[in-house]
Amino acid sequence: MKHLIAPSMLAADWTKLREATDLVNTSDADWYHLDVMDGRFVPNISFGMFLIQQIKSLATKPLDVHLMIVEPEKYIERFHEAGADVITVHYEACPHLHRTIQQIKATGAKAGVALNPHTPVTVLEDVLEDIDLALLMSVNPGFGGQKFIYKTIPRIQKLKDLITVQNTKTLIEIDGGVGLQNAEKCLQAGADVLVAGSSVFKAKDPRKAIEQLKAVGKDIPRLV
Ligand code: DX5
Ligand code: ZN
Repeated sequence: MKHLIAPSMLAADWTKLREATDLVNTSDADWYHLDVMDGRFVPNISFGMFLIQQIKSLATKPLDVHLMIVEPEKYIERFHEAGADVITVHYEACPHLHRTIQQIKATGAKAGVALNPHTPVTVLEDVLEDIDLALLMSVNPGFGGQKFIYKTIPRIQKLKDLITVQNTKTLIEIDGGVGLQNAEKCLQAGADVLVAGSSVFKAKDPRKAIEQLKAVGKDIPRLV
């Protein structure tokens, strides 16, 4: 499968939201990545279902909603109603992860689980067959524009191996500091979806930046 590109709207200029959505709609991007932060799970506050609903009304591509919030189970249905097509919760925020995954799937949305950089990928072993997406944070969550943590590359390989052994269809999404300088390495290691905030919206030509990320490593074989 050709990899997917999910521009993170956190880095967009929200005073020109329609321009940003027109750009994503007509670009090579596949999904919208929307970062919900609560000031508790992460030390930053972004936006919630109200703004997601506004984006939904402008978007012609799926909304990939990344919940960096405590007790996400309280809001799953409302995020789905607001327009989320993929809902990703953090492993670290979910004591009853299996139940929360089922709750997401019951809404009809695709279910994702995200891991912070320090959380071993093996914690997903027993839920891999239940989830559509595994998101590996390649920065500490909470802010856009941070530096990519290179330890993520062997983590992608390890997770890909678990997925291969179990023969599940789980997609691997990489989030944080992704750009042309590391995209190929992520893909070679086994990534399927690349989130890109700053490398797209802070670029001189965001459309071109998306195009270039989409064109990286056409059919490259895995390193291992
Ligand atoms: C970080 C968010 C990321 C972030 C990506 O907490 O989950 O999605 O917005 O932005 P860049 O690509 O600038 O690191
Ligand atoms: Zn994110």
